[in-house]
Amino acid sequence: MQGKRILLIVGGGIAAYKSLDLVRRLKEQGATVRAILTKGGAEFVTPLSFATLTEEKAFTDLFDLKDEAEIGHIRLSREADLVVVAPATAGLLAKMAHGLADDLATAVLLATDKPVLAAPAMNVRMWEHAATQRNLATLRADGIHFVGPDEGEMACGEYGLGRMAEPPAILAAIAELLGTPKATPRIVSGSGRSLAGCHVLITSGPTQEPIDPVRYIANRSSGKQGHALARAAAALGAKVTLVSGPVTLSDPSGVRVVKVDTAHEMSAAVLAALPADIAICAAAVADWRAADEASHKLKKPHEGNEATLKLTLNPDILTTLAKPGPKRPRLVIGFAAETENLIENAKSKRARKGADWIVANDVWPGTGAMGGDETQIHLITPQGVEDWPALSKDEMAARLLARVADAFAALRPAAE
Ligand code: C5P
Repeated sequence: MQGKRILLIVGGGIAAYKSLDLVRRLKEQGATVRAILTKGGAEFVTPLSFATLTEEKAFTDLFDLKDEAEIGHIRLSREADLVVVAPATAGLLAKMAHGLADDLATAVLLATDKPVLAAPAMNVRMWEHAATQRNLATLRADGIHFVGPDEGEMACGEYGLGRMAEPPAILAAIAELLGTPKATPRIVSGSGRSLAGCHVLITSGPTQEPIDPVRYIANRSSGKQGHALARAAAALGAKVTLVSGPVTLSDPSGVRVVKVDTAHEMSAAVLAALPADIAICAAAVADWRAADEASHKLKKPHEGNEATLKLTLNPDILTTLAKPGPKRPRLVIGFAAETENLIENAKSKRARKGADWIVANDVWPGTGAMGGDETQIHLITPQGVEDWPALSKDEMAARLLARVADAFAALRPAAE
């Protein structure tokens, strides 16, 4: 980040105070920061606070003739490597989407040819409003990058999506856009593809099936792939519900996360999240659970070395979702993790479970796919089998969601 020049635009939201922390972190990493506050932004935090932290003048008004003569809006943009809008309020995003330029912040945003990263912050209803979602789709198509928002408690007392991403997440997104090494992988959209208006339902992680109060049956799934898919879908503007088994990963930004332990809970959460346009079952659901969960810790046998654990089959969530009916998502995608006869097993799984596509991957221990950061998949569709190269799980997710967006765009006219 050393020597990089960030132009920070601070909109009028309560999250503006977090942008002071963002400035501090950027400066610590060696970046220079200039701040522009909208009129609303200056109501929440003072220009003096930004001037003190940035060690630069903080700008507020387009019509300050002295400023405009010394350093105008064009120069502010020219002298930046990246423009960051944080908080990006619903009103500011609407102005950006429509090319309004009635103050210094929006004039710079219209005049700039530098990459722009926006960190939205607003009430959940404003975020979900059709107008905001339309504006987001327009801005994504214009190549604006986004980080967040997060789900959580809001200043207004409501709960939901709309909290501004935390400064470390914004910093990681900035680092990635600036091509700084060691940036956290993030999908930056700008291809013109969009899943705006689509509800994408994703399962991720393992499930844990209790045997007794202290023991359970599980598997080695880390949830990395499912979570990467959720980030990729959100980056394309989808409304995303991620139903996740126990994982150690942090919740992806801009995604509704439902946490579960068992296959039964996962199944109930998935059905409760319907209707969905697209379902991707990436979870490694335990096929079996203990037939009788013991209410007390099982004791070692007094005689002999063997004990018998009776198992019973869990519900198959993918099969349930893919059943024809009014609630079936238009595109249902399953995963097939196999250690032998990969393609044949995956093809028969597609037919047996009724999925539209199957993502087949070899999880033989040597491949490192289970729990690792890389994956090599074969995409099985009604048209045939595609062999994909080895990719990071984030890259694979971005590619798969791009395919999903294309396929869904082709399906959509029939639905309307
Ligand atoms: O049969 P198998 O477990 O190999 O199938 C894998 C696919 O089925 C994955 O997409 C997984 O998420 C899904 N699945 C499920 N519910 C189960 C078992 C598997 O949704 N009980």
